[in-house]
Amino acid sequence: MTPAEKTRRSYERRPYPGDDLRALATKGGSLPSPKWMQAIGRPGCPEPRRILVAGCGTGPEAFQIQRHFPKAEIVAVDFSPRSIALAKRLQKAIGTPRPIEFRVADLTDPDLAAKTGGDFDLATCHGVLSYITEPARVLANLAGILAPRGTLYLGVNGEGHPSTRLRPWLASFGLKVGEMRDERRLRELLAVWDSLHDDGMTELSKLSASYLANDVCGPFINSLPLAQWRAAAGRCGLDLAGVWLLPMTLRLAMEGDKCRPLFPAGIGDLAERLDQVRPAGFHRLLFRRQGQGPSDIPGAGTRKGSLLWTGLYSARFKAARAKGKVTVVLKCPVFDLRLEASLSVGQADALRALVASGASPTGWMARWGRTEAARRLLWLWTGLGVVAGSV
Ligand SMILES: C[S@@+](CC[C@H](N)C(=O)[O-])C[C@H]1O[C@@H](n2cnc3c(N)ncnc32)[C@H](O)[C@@H]1O
Repeated sequence: MTPAEKTRRSYERRPYPGDDLRALATKGGSLPSPKWMQAIGRPGCPEPRRILVAGCGTGPEAFQIQRHFPKAEIVAVDFSPRSIALAKRLQKAIGTPRPIEFRVADLTDPDLAAKTGGDFDLATCHGVLSYITEPARVLANLAGILAPRGTLYLGVNGEGHPSTRLRPWLASFGLKVGEMRDERRLRELLAVWDSLHDDGMTELSKLSASYLANDVCGPFINSLPLAQWRAAAGRCGLDLAGVWLLPMTLRLAMEGDKCRPLFPAGIGDLAERLDQVRPAGFHRLLFRRQGQGPSDIPGAGTRKGSLLWTGLYSARFKAARAKGKVTVVLKCPVFDLRLEASLSVGQADALRALVASGASPTGWMARWGRTEAARRLLWLWTGLGVVAGSV
């Protein structure tokens, strides 16, 4: 049996995230905010008309996406017929504003575009690619089904994912990890594991045996550093446009202007550098087709074209203690961040104009200032998701 067939059978036996229809109806899925996907993946673009949910399991991810984009036409595919049958039953049971088209399809199929209709403004593929032996085939397919200004959201395991160490660790205690029986010894060992990992990762001892069997100790798992996922996507014609963890890690590095030596790396290089120091357990990434928009950071000096206010932050201006200065307070509910920056009066006026119109008018950069400090602040704000380059 090929690893792909093993994976399919495993999900046929244990559909994700489960087969209890009542429990599923209340489950939210673990996607990052769709508002972030739109603001960073498609800055300045209208809401997506067509969305693909690639590897949808029993459906919660597709329902979550639909709650945010109720007018969009959504196609959701999975290669497990049992998962698709459950998703259809769930859709009937909960009633959706617009029917989601659930279909059985293999993401590695070269005819995926024809089978799904292609032309998607947003494709989401969350927790799928790490379980596929040939992720490049899927990445090439997903790149091919995007509309010109479309974005791909990819949720994949990082180097810090427990899968890299848990399976051999449990096996070293004589546990038959392939069978993953929900026995007392397993729970005791997982409790030890959790007590040594207070890094915000999900507590493994609280997860179901089926999740542990498929997603943490499954027959095949790719848990890779950001650099490797980015390189694989690059070979399939995709540019990295956003990294969910970047604002959080950048926030840690920006205290006391410590991230100065990282300037002026573009989004991808910057996120890679931070992932090398603090390997993510799970990457939430946004990609665009190459040539569909700038991947470098406005303010870093190389970029021409307009700058957009993403709308992820609110901005409040207040007089600063220092004469001729204005403090801007930026708050982001999506990342739960609060930032302050000291601006000159001219910069504060330029920022007010950007917030009001959503895009920088001609000559905006000259008003903002071209000093290194001014460019660095814009660069930092791009990494934090305050502003973005237009697509
Ligand atoms: C961990 S689940 C994630 C489900 C869903 N994306 C979510 O986050 O709720 C992985 C899903 O990917 C599906 N899958 C794996 N390989 C696939 C492939 N080659 N084609 C289509 N679906 C696939 C599995 O059947 C399973 O339902």
